[in-house]
Amino acid sequence: MTATQRRVFIGGAWPYANGSLHLGHVAALLGGDVLARYHRLRGDRVLYVSGSDCHGTPIALEAERRGVSPGEVADAYHAEFRATFEALRFSYDAYTRTTTDNHRAVVQEAFTRLLEAGLIGRRTQRLAYCERDRRFLPDRYVEGTCPHCGTAGARGDQCDACGRVLDPPDLREPRCKFCGETPVWRDSEHFFLLLPRLQERLFAWLEGAQGWRRNATTYVRNIVSEGLRERAITRDTSWGVPLPLEGYGDKRIYVWFEAVCGYLSASVEWAGLRGEPEAWRDFWEAPGDAALHYYIHGKDNIPFHAIIWPAILMGLGGGAAGGTGTFRGAGLRLPDRLYSSEYLTFGQRQFSKSRGLVIRAADAAADHGSDAVRYTLLSNGPENADSDFTWEDFQARVNGELIAKLGNFVNRSLSFAAKHWPDGLKAPAAPEPGLEAEAAEAFAAVGRFIEAGEFREGLRAVLRLAESGNRYIDAQAPWKAVKEDRAKAEAILVRALWLSLALAKLVRPFLPEFAGKVVAQLGLTGQEDWSVPVPGPAAPRDVAPLVRKVEIPAPTEPAAGA
Ligand code: MF3
Ligand code: ZN
Repeated sequence: MTATQRRVFIGGAWPYANGSLHLGHVAALLGGDVLARYHRLRGDRVLYVSGSDCHGTPIALEAERRGVSPGEVADAYHAEFRATFEALRFSYDAYTRTTTDNHRAVVQEAFTRLLEAGLIGRRTQRLAYCERDRRFLPDRYVEGTCPHCGTAGARGDQCDACGRVLDPPDLREPRCKFCGETPVWRDSEHFFLLLPRLQERLFAWLEGAQGWRRNATTYVRNIVSEGLRERAITRDTSWGVPLPLEGYGDKRIYVWFEAVCGYLSASVEWAGLRGEPEAWRDFWEAPGDAALHYYIHGKDNIPFHAIIWPAILMGLGGGAAGGTGTFRGAGLRLPDRLYSSEYLTFGQRQFSKSRGLVIRAADAAADHGSDAVRYTLLSNGPENADSDFTWEDFQARVNGELIAKLGNFVNRSLSFAAKHWPDGLKAPAAPEPGLEAEAAEAFAAVGRFIEAGEFREGLRAVLRLAESGNRYIDAQAPWKAVKEDRAKAEAILVRALWLSLALAKLVRPFLPEFAGKVVAQLGLTGQEDWSVPVPGPAAPRDVAPLVRKVEIPAPTEPAAGA
């Protein structure tokens, strides 16, 4: 580790612990793992964090429905998420949850600091109350027509059609989601994040934001032209982080204000567990080019990562010198890159738990392995537009691309080498300046694509190099050469094994399991860096197919009537 090592922070969105992870969630999150693995290979110091979002109304309501405590619901899904992420080879440096004491302390400190700074204030709020159900309605349980785009079925917290953040009173023709009744409005005192007070600074910072995906940039452009409004950050509920103030026992901090603070609390937790309690500062207080902060999430998360979280960080002294308390010092670093995904559809429909259109990520990983799932979701990720998952497409990508192109080149090279040179290959590699230049260019290009969040293009570049490898083998026909000129054939195979290693290194951020298998079958260890390998002697061992063929496509179409 050197003092000049860049600090790369990667914040993966925190999934709600109120239902299983499905392929759509994973499609939005996987890029974070590719970035983390890539930057580690580059020699950067990486902190990749996430956790389970355990508070909030959906979890409280799910618990109510099942007759258990919200904590039990969260515990069960948290355990399931951990196992699912592990099965898919997510390499979080810390995967925690929002119910820890540490998280509560960080959130409460943020709340207190912003209150003291005059960025949080008390307001009386008109809240939807359903007289039939006799309860205050959480924002997302009020539905109506979006005042901005006119779409029906918008929720009281956000319109999925245009992405605007809403308050329930904004909705036209509001309805109680539980019973369909028109709610009445009752006054309740709440705390508000006074975003207008930060507007000038936030907008100036947003002007300079670079390299975000188009969806986030478009969102920001709309917000800048509309201006910011004060937003309630407390709720009438008992499930969540309590306010750090007397007299508000029946209120909790709003789940979104709280969850985004998880990026910081998880970093603090990570540092503590390492026995270097201040180590999180290296990532959060690093200025300029010394650090880079990426955030990876689905597009419905954009407002919270583009506005709310930066506002909280600014309130904590982010982007400016000064401040006291834990989050003092040079100020906390604001997001550098927002990679917000569009949606993954399933046979052109929204994945939907209620309509039975779900593929649990845990099931897909167990049935097909991490490489098949990662390859499909990354090569067809919803990066700049929605993308569609079908089992036919899954099978075509895994069998026809991953296995037939990449796997095939590596496997045929290894098999041939192992068969004809059981004691290993020692000849110098056949000189192939064209192939060597192509491999060198691939490391540069794939790196650029990954850093830009263009994972589809990155994988495509890897596959192109594999196809060059297949053409090389076809043209050199070592099965002929081995009969005529064994030394020449050996040189060809050493070159092919070198290219196999280059491909394994290039694909490692995307398909870590595949890469590990290739390196092991080459009789090597390590190879964990981002550079063109040097050709050398090889002793292939235990050569076997690298990816299991997808053979039984589950029905793509959900049951009729679903
Ligand atoms: N729980 C939210 C969701 O699933 C994401 C929260 S990301 C966070 O959409 F960083 F704010 F936690
Ligand atoms: Zn109702």
